[in-house]
Amino acid sequence: MVRVELGERSYDICIGENWLPRLGDSLNFVPKSSQMIMISDENVFNLYGSRVLEILRDAGFKVESAVIAGGEGCKNLATSSCLYEQMITAGLDRKSTVLALGGGIVGDIAGFAAATYMRGIAYIQIPTTLLAQVDSSVGGKTGVNLPQGKNLVGAFYQPGLVFVDVAFIETLPEREYLTGLAEIIKYGIIWDKDFFKYLEEHCDRIKSRDSECLMHITSRCCSIKAEIVAQDETESGLRALLNLGHTFGHAFEALTNYQMYTHGEAVAVGMIYAARLAHHLGIIPFGDLNRIANLIKFYGLPISFGNLKSQDIVVQMRKDKKNIGGKIQLILPTAIGESKIFNDVSEANVVMILDLDR
Ligand SMILES: NC(=O)c1ccc[n+]([C@@H]2O[C@H](COP(=O)([O-])OP(=O)(O)OC[C@H]3O[C@@H](n4cnc5c(N)ncnc54)[C@H](O)[C@@H]3O)[C@@H](O)[C@H]2O)c1
Repeated sequence: MVRVELGERSYDICIGENWLPRLGDSLNFVPKSSQMIMISDENVFNLYGSRVLEILRDAGFKVESAVIAGGEGCKNLATSSCLYEQMITAGLDRKSTVLALGGGIVGDIAGFAAATYMRGIAYIQIPTTLLAQVDSSVGGKTGVNLPQGKNLVGAFYQPGLVFVDVAFIETLPEREYLTGLAEIIKYGIIWDKDFFKYLEEHCDRIKSRDSECLMHITSRCCSIKAEIVAQDETESGLRALLNLGHTFGHAFEALTNYQMYTHGEAVAVGMIYAARLAHHLGIIPFGDLNRIANLIKFYGLPISFGNLKSQDIVVQMRKDKKNIGGKIQLILPTAIGESKIFNDVSEANVVMILDLDR
């Protein structure tokens, strides 16, 4: 178990394997008289929905379900609006609880619905993708997309509990598994050199979804995220380190209309460019750059962007909502296990790095 220490908003991340039957016990702080709603997407509902509902009802909870289509295209205000209607129809009041059963998309939109319904009701994260188990379910970033961009409307709103069962990962499609691995590698690069080494040494077992490795990885990533969030809940500084590779990555995703890369694939390529840029600026040794690029390659993640034009990428990077005063903000690794925020890297240097392997 990992604790996210945030004063009166503190909560636990409970991590286990094949322990869904104990979900009811983990929710012992939720009053049985209050109405719950379980939100999931179609895939997740078809795989696990009935089982979770049965476990909860057998444990004495009153729970209804709401199913969204799934995919980035449904993470919007129209879907939130449908959810509010279903929450009202199900009889949810201010003491009710939302359960988010699914990947990052379900977690973000269900969390947002919980944050805004009747000015905020409780919610529980039950993440079912690797990305959600190691990253998005922890830390309280909730939100939806606007036509103008991703995650432009949202709230920092912490869950009451994160319940992780690594057995969900068995049914995850390979590409989605790899997406989660990219975020896992990120934790090693920004924060923990021993964890990075673990990822180097256990590559084959991790690729084959060995459950002991999954337990270790998930616990370590959640501990790192909990430590960072506890120090900087609303991303005024330290938490930005979690965006390593994301400024490049978001630009690739947007320029390819979110069709060519999954989020993790775009982040993987972004981390390589960030490390190359750091090496070019003389802030990370070549040996560390090599280890980062090799690890990303070993895990079968992409390492370059095809045919996108460097100028288009930079123009897109300028639009990133994390930029301040029109300057591109970048997280760059300074060693394996260490990284820093940079606001003064020239665009000429960014273009140069993007053009390097063409
Ligand atoms: N809130 C945060 O801190 C945070 C952090 C990172 C990413 N995100 C957001 O997370 C979203 C991406 O999340 P994601 O990668 O989990 O994608 P996702 O939620 O779309 O899930 C990926 C796919 O896997 C399916 N799926 C989920 N669990 C499954 C399982 N156990 N077995 C089989 N299929 C399963 C889903 O139906 C979906 O088709 C993005 O919108 C991103 O902005 C949020």
